[in-house]
Amino acid sequence: NTSTSRTDSIQCPCGHIQYVFAGTTWMQVLVSLIQVEGDNSRLEDVATFDRTPWLELHHQKVLEAQSPRTITTHLPFRLMPRRLREGAAKVIYVTRNPKDVLVSFFHFFAILKAKPSDVPSKFEDVLQSFLEGQSSYGEWSEHVRGWLNSGYKNFLHVTYEEMSKDLAAVIKRICTFLDKSLTEEQVQGVMKHSSFESMRHNPLTNYSKMEELYDLSKGDFIRKGKVGDWKNHFTVAQSERFDVAYRERMEGLHLDLTWDL
Ligand code: A3P
Repeated sequence: NTSTSRTDSIQCPCGHIQYVFAGTTWMQVLVSLIQVEGDNSRLEDVATFDRTPWLELHHQKVLEAQSPRTITTHLPFRLMPRRLREGAAKVIYVTRNPKDVLVSFFHFFAILKAKPSDVPSKFEDVLQSFLEGQSSYGEWSEHVRGWLNSGYKNFLHVTYEEMSKDLAAVIKRICTFLDKSLTEEQVQGVMKHSSFESMRHNPLTNYSKMEELYDLSKGDFIRKGKVGDWKNHFTVAQSERFDVAYRERMEGLHLDLTWDL
């Protein structure tokens, strides 16, 4: 069904190797909770990829989903299906400051069981590959620029840092965007079940049921959930190198990145 009257929402974190650790899972949980008015009992047995299947991974689920469909993707704007590029959906685009994205990926890599042998594991090498734009969803600033400059009409840009600072305000913005009217109590329900602690202990969101893919004895997927953890990983020299590269790439983008709270 490609009817334009549908109110699908696509949420797409910035990208990628897999520099995508911008809060995808958090947004999947938020949107699905908003759709059930904060009543988590209606979602208790439903994994995130069943709530909001991935466009690039779960084709059958995407096709079979009931309207309003909620679909997740990491794809850059230029690779979106034509009907979507033309505005057939509502898009929630999530970004996070790229230093924290990089750190989150670095730790994720440690718990990932099957890794390509040529993907770097030392922080310095991961940083270098990020700066070189080696990633399957494209270079980070290109991905962000592609979406933010797309001129897409039904578009809501949300940052991980805004979600961390004032989640209630973000939930209300998403409700307005999706034409959902929630009571204060229902907003509290969404907040409770999308909190770091509840997602960390929920087997549907913490990947603990995906033992074939992740070795959680080496770390957690819902790991730290902080803004500014990059400061615990970057040396001063690495941070300066990053800033120089990104100052140039971000030129004209008007993206006000939050590095710490
Ligand atoms: P950290 O590794 O910095 O802790 P994604 O889902 O896009 O892969 O992003 C994963 C990142 O989102 C991880 O960051 C994870 O801890 C964080 N995250 C997931 N749920 C969260 C929540 N409810 N509150 C704060 N951070 C959350």
